[in-house]
Amino acid sequence: MSASLLVFDSGIGGLSVLREIRRQLPSAEIAYVADDAAFPYGDWEAEPLSDHIVALMGRLIERFQPDAVVIACNTASTLVLPPLRARHALPFIGTVPAIKPAAERSASRVVGVLATPGTMKRDYTRELIKSFARDCHVRLVGSSELAPLAEAVMRGERVEDAAIRTEIEPAFIEVDGKRTDTIVLACTHYPFLIERLEAVAPWPVAWVDPAEAIARRVLSVLSLVSEPAGTIASSGQAFLTSGKPWAPAQVELLGRFGLEAARLD
Ligand code: DGL
Repeated sequence: MSASLLVFDSGIGGLSVLREIRRQLPSAEIAYVADDAAFPYGDWEAEPLSDHIVALMGRLIERFQPDAVVIACNTASTLVLPPLRARHALPFIGTVPAIKPAAERSASRVVGVLATPGTMKRDYTRELIKSFARDCHVRLVGSSELAPLAEAVMRGERVEDAAIRTEIEPAFIEVDGKRTDTIVLACTHYPFLIERLEAVAPWPVAWVDPAEAIARRVLSVLSLVSEPAGTIASSGQAFLTSGKPWAPAQVELLGRFGLEAARLD
């Protein structure tokens, strides 16, 4: 029997995680929920955001009855995993900044973390740095603009290179003659900008996207193994919390991820 998953983000960034889940587990039945009514999460204060997500998740779990929930959002995961796990018996798989793999691969020991302001401020993120990147110089950059810019790009709107460059430049630093060589994409929206990021970066770096590792984690939590290529993919549905219809460009995008645009009743 195939697994049923609820994949959740503030917007369409979580599709970067869903893409990997679909690759490893094509038969999973997926409901993707974008909390567009509250987007972007990046500038919310921690407490109201936590209360908001916990209340919303209660309704979504009731509605979809998933086997597991994937919080495909760093801003939410660094905040709400403990209260969600305390309230619900089902597994929650979070998305948190990939600081450990970035520290493992950095040769210069100068690492950038591109995140939202919320993720940047979290104790959780600071703890990851203390635990896994103690010997690195870590530059945390919290951008309020980059996730909305990624949404605009994904709606097919024109976004100037300069607007993207301004947001990422602070992550490119030089410390004692060593330059940033690795940057963590600590917001699930950012992998969709990867070609633009590479094009405007002041110098080449390795970009670390945790999506594949999260998909592996989903499999291991549900005691499943990766399905062979060619497994028939089950169709999924995507919902907006605002109740608005999906825009035509988004419907096309969802189709590329095997999702049908739907409405929350
Ligand atoms: N995609 C989300 C993340 O991974 C956040 C974007 C936002 O709502 O600000 O952090």
